[in-house]
Amino acid sequence: MISGKIEAALNRQIDLEGFSSMYYLCMASWCEVKGYNGIAQFLYNHSDEERMHMLKLFRYINDRGGHAIVPGLESPPKDFQSIQEIFEIVHSHEVKVSNEINALVELCMQEKDYTTHNFLQWYVTEQIEEESLARNILDKLKLIGEDKGGMYLFDRDLGTMAAPGAGSAHGKK
Ligand code: FEO
Repeated sequence: MISGKIEAALNRQIDLEGFSSMYYLCMASWCEVKGYNGIAQFLYNHSDEERMHMLKLFRYINDRGGHAIVPGLESPPKDFQSIQEIFEIVHSHEVKVSNEINALVELCMQEKDYTTHNFLQWYVTEQIEEESLARNILDKLKLIGEDKGGMYLFDRDLGTMAAPGAGSAHGKK
């Protein structure tokens, strides 16, 4: 059984993962409308992964005697300046998610909830990958700069990465 405090904190994380899913969906839609179909597919997949992160929390909370709550989400921004801006937002958003996961881990230590602490290790590992992926993409975009040919190839590469059978947006199953 989880404590009310842990249940509330996990429900706040549900909110954040749900928001992340909607945020990346907004980015995917913007990219698709602008003709960046490969980047759009990558972001659609990323949005699906965030929903999976959210659902994993649902199942855990309910399995441990709590009640997972469907969040009332604020609408994420729908307009962006550039692909560079999108991935800067992805990176800073993932850093924020990591900080929240770390705060949750800390709370579990304080509350001596070692089961939830153990459950959260999956998210700790996932966040290392998510931050590193966003950083790698930003590095590539820096190299590309204003080069339109480079951006064309980048779009194609992200599309290949996101294609069925190529693993998830993270390049893993
Ligand atoms: Fe579920 Fe990208 O954090």
